[in-house]
Amino acid sequence: MNKVTTKTLFEKKQKGEKITMITAYDYTFAKIFDSCMVDILLVGDSLGMVILGYDSTIPVTMDDMEHHVRAVSRGAKYSMVVADMPFLSYHTTIEDAVKNAGRLIRAGAYAVKMEGCDDVYDKIEAVIKAQIPVMGHLGLTPQSVNIFGGYDLRAKEEAEAKKLVEDAKKLEKAGVFAIVLEKVPANVAKQVQESVIVPVIGIGAGPYCDGQVLVCYDMLGMYEDFKPKFVKRYAEVGNIIKDAVTRYIEEVKKGEFPGKEHSY
Ligand code: KIV
Repeated sequence: MNKVTTKTLFEKKQKGEKITMITAYDYTFAKIFDSCMVDILLVGDSLGMVILGYDSTIPVTMDDMEHHVRAVSRGAKYSMVVADMPFLSYHTTIEDAVKNAGRLIRAGAYAVKMEGCDDVYDKIEAVIKAQIPVMGHLGLTPQSVNIFGGYDLRAKEEAEAKKLVEDAKKLEKAGVFAIVLEKVPANVAKQVQESVIVPVIGIGAGPYCDGQVLVCYDMLGMYEDFKPKFVKRYAEVGNIIKDAVTRYIEEVKKGEFPGKEHSY
């Protein structure tokens, strides 16, 4: 099977085939998800919360992202690896944006994801001009949590919904190859999906998007600190881990582990 490219995703939208995307932060998970043939592995800055234990994505650094992109890219043979550009890595100057996007590509990512539109438009254009594929991210953009004042649903009002559709068209004009749309009403996501030819990948954006993305620790039932309504838990891996570790502790305490078969 050929590795997923921007062309694969574009063709999927044209054929009406749904695109699948999941976050990954390390080699082992990346290898498992890749073997399931998920289209895109996102090394999300959500790693700040689910891996590093911060209460937002804001403290995540370029060094953090590079470290996890290296690990994930080693496990991805089929899936496209997209890396989030972290907070303030593309907001100051065009030079900084291109240099930082380049660091993530050199670490093994195929493309980078950048949040927002007007405030970073010249940076998005410059990164694309440097031949680095960019995925946009609109709606709820977690790096702006302190400006929004929380993680509430976006584009509830008509004016914001209209602006969202305009922003999606602008990003398409800049040359992004896909757009993540986070936490907006399903009917608004439908308008965005119909307004652009690039794939729109939803998270908390209803069923009309061209694809879906979830944070792996959420959908596997491992992250307990925050449970958004849009998350479906496909497994309770946290409970499986707790059960396994509890049995291990019991067996070690009782002297049942290691047995003869585990000893030399
Ligand atoms: O960081 C992340 O995991 C993301 C997804 C929520 C889309 O940006």
